[in-house]
Amino acid sequence: MNQVDYLRISLIDRCNFRCQYCMPEGAELEYALKQQLLSDAELLTLIQEVFIPVGFTRFRLTGGEPLLRPGVVDLVKAIASFSETQDLSMTTNGFLLSPIAKNLYEAGLRRINISLDSLDPDIFDQIIGNHGRSRWQQVWDGIQAAYKVGFNPLKLNVVVIPGVNDHEILDLAALTIDKQWHVRFIEFMPIGNWQLFGDRGWVSSTDLRQRIRKQWGLTESQIRGNGPADVFQIPGAKGTLGFISQMSECFCDRCNRMRFSADGWLRPCLLNETGQLDLKTALRSGVSIHQLREQVRHLLAIKPEINFKGRDSGTTGTYSRTMSQIGG
Ligand code: GTP
Ligand code: 5AD
Ligand code: SF4
Repeated sequence: MNQVDYLRISLIDRCNFRCQYCMPEGAELEYALKQQLLSDAELLTLIQEVFIPVGFTRFRLTGGEPLLRPGVVDLVKAIASFSETQDLSMTTNGFLLSPIAKNLYEAGLRRINISLDSLDPDIFDQIIGNHGRSRWQQVWDGIQAAYKVGFNPLKLNVVVIPGVNDHEILDLAALTIDKQWHVRFIEFMPIGNWQLFGDRGWVSSTDLRQRIRKQWGLTESQIRGNGPADVFQIPGAKGTLGFISQMSECFCDRCNRMRFSADGWLRPCLLNETGQLDLKTALRSGVSIHQLREQVRHLLAIKPEINFKGRDSGTTGTYSRTMSQIGG
């Protein structure tokens, strides 16, 4: 059985983008009010006194958009300072990254994943729901800044949507040839925007690999991550290509993670709401740390039964919340 030692912590449910596949414009979202979000002190208490003692040692900060959380650098610093923290990473849309990348690195963040769904500024703006001055360049500057500061690995996430950005696969894959970047193609999941999913469908990783193989060849990489991606490499390239295939292949049996939402729910599976714990309410109503640990230990013990098991893992889960609310 996999050791579940990796916690994805959402710092905020808000986002400054409206990605078509995640929280599209017009879809009414209810954001948590400020008092419903965990405070820094509450979050740090739970990490230090509950999550670490039950065995979590690797943390990924997500959102919504984590860089919108006030005081994010101080939070990074505090989490990095726990001696048990073995890995601290972040998933961001990159828009606010450039001026803060160095501070994050100095605070102890080492790995960063940035969404980059297109190299074409117009398509990019269309995907993220932007109508003003293009936001592509600022995200690109964020990626360059993170690279310069030394984040390693630097991963770029591409959600592939048929007819929207799938014609850019080769250009995006080519980014890995000269730079030690890791581009990951993610199969579009019906979570967040069912209508777009119904209209567009999804492209399988096998299909994408065929296209890339035809152009350059493709080898399975020796560098195996501990996440959901299958890793490959264009021969001679400095970086790698990852394929996250939650639609075509169920990887739930090797799941090593839980999720913690910004409003304090601990969730054992992305695709299944069963068993989730409202730790914020418990903490605020005086439940002891000892009891909280026991509740989380129990959830860890029953996680294998809760893990989503369908082969078409994206299509029949019970998700009433979007990725941005769950925490990516
Ligand atoms: P690292 O391997 O630590 O770099 O992280 P990651 O690849 O899990 O993180 P990232 O935040 O970049 O997530 C990329 C994509 O992986 C998400 O968009 C999801 O599609 C997918 N993913 C991450 N965790 C899970 C999970 O628990 N279940 C499923 N089905 N998909 C996941
Ligand atoms: N399907 C696949 N990936 C998604 N993400 C958000 N919504 C979806 C979806 N419906 C991705 C983002 C980001 C990561 C945290 O989640 O692109 O890379
Ligand atoms: Fe896009 Fe991520 Fe924001 Fe969702 S949370 S709208 S995927 S940037």
